[in-house]
Amino acid sequence: MPAENSIPVSADALAHSQHVSVFLRAQIEQAGGWIPFSNWMHDALYAPGLGYYAAGNTKFAEPAADDPKQLKGDFVTAPQLTALFGLTLANQVAEILKQSNALDILEFGAGSGALANDVMTAMDALGMPVRYQILEVSADLKARQQQRLAVWGNRITWLERTPEEFSGCIIANEVLDAMPVELFAWSAQGELQQRGVIWNGQQFDYQDRTANAALRATVPQRMPALPDYCSEINLQAEGWIKSLGQWLTRGAAILIDYGFPQHEYYHPQRHRGTLMCHIQHLAHDNALMAPGLQDITAHVDFTAMADAALSGGLEVYGYTSQARFLLNAGLSEVMMKQGDLSARGHTNLRVAIQKLTSEAEMGELFKVITIGRNIDGGLIGFTRGDRRDSL
Ligand SMILES: C[S@@+](CC[C@H](N)C(=O)[O-])C[C@H]1O[C@@H](n2cnc3c(N)ncnc32)[C@H](O)[C@@H]1O
Repeated sequence: MPAENSIPVSADALAHSQHVSVFLRAQIEQAGGWIPFSNWMHDALYAPGLGYYAAGNTKFAEPAADDPKQLKGDFVTAPQLTALFGLTLANQVAEILKQSNALDILEFGAGSGALANDVMTAMDALGMPVRYQILEVSADLKARQQQRLAVWGNRITWLERTPEEFSGCIIANEVLDAMPVELFAWSAQGELQQRGVIWNGQQFDYQDRTANAALRATVPQRMPALPDYCSEINLQAEGWIKSLGQWLTRGAAILIDYGFPQHEYYHPQRHRGTLMCHIQHLAHDNALMAPGLQDITAHVDFTAMADAALSGGLEVYGYTSQARFLLNAGLSEVMMKQGDLSARGHTNLRVAIQKLTSEAEMGELFKVITIGRNIDGGLIGFTRGDRRDSL
């Protein structure tokens, strides 16, 4: 775990983090000295003008032009890495749109806007004049997206809230992992505890309390009591998925994120959970450090996501690794169509494909799940290696 002062941040950034700390201390005080971890994660990421995603601090990495292995920023996502990701994903989007008899795409959490740009480019090349909507919770990122995507005019618009009804294709890349999770711990005596955050007079610290009703009703269904075991549960993401069932009338949502099925998620050896923070390409698990300056994420329990979809009246059309999904959806063909065959262009493509598909990089840890209703299914992204039976 890195010490707070071991990461080189500017004086301005440090001053900003101190403002966020003052805000969080006030939140803790108002709540009587303790807040659930989900409140901490929400405010550290999304408190207006303060949180990591809400105050201009998000640093999506881009590969350096002269050396694609060099990445600057806090963390990299697949659309930031290469346009091949969005251009390939678009093949799956196109199939879902055809099966839905619709031309509408809705992206949640569009980050820098890179994926929207690549999918729009691909849809135009396929001769499908789609309408693209974005729902983004961060006002700062929304402004950045509007600037980057201005070239598409009113073919891309932003929503303030989920629509009443929607037919078409929904996309969310690395959004579930950015939703605030609850932390829980099984004590040495086998009691279920909820982990929250206090101010101990000198610094923020964790403190466990008896688990609330929501945790008591869910955690024991998913894992046995294991002494000295701590992990997370993403009830907000489950609620979000379930709510899709209320307004997605025809179509499917492609959700891409890192994670595993439940039996792997709550494996006895994963006794410290999956919480991960990113700052300047340093990954660590100290979520109480440098609030406002670092990303905080947790892996996704895909069994819980599939169960939430089913209880929302949706179907699960496929679940597989990112590598398998992209290869099924035509990554090789998309790559062959890329024009730059110079030695450098070729190297850049090779590096990007390696990162997207290699087991040691994003290929295996990242998964794709597709849920929805009223379409035929049999989707191209899952033609080989569909792992729904592992959920
Ligand atoms: C890790 S970033 C991923 C950005 C982008 N999708 C990409 O792949 O580069 C998470 C994004 O999700 C957004 N976000 C988090 N929760 C959201 C929600 N409930 N609805 C919409 N956007 C959300 C964040 O503001 C941010 O844009």
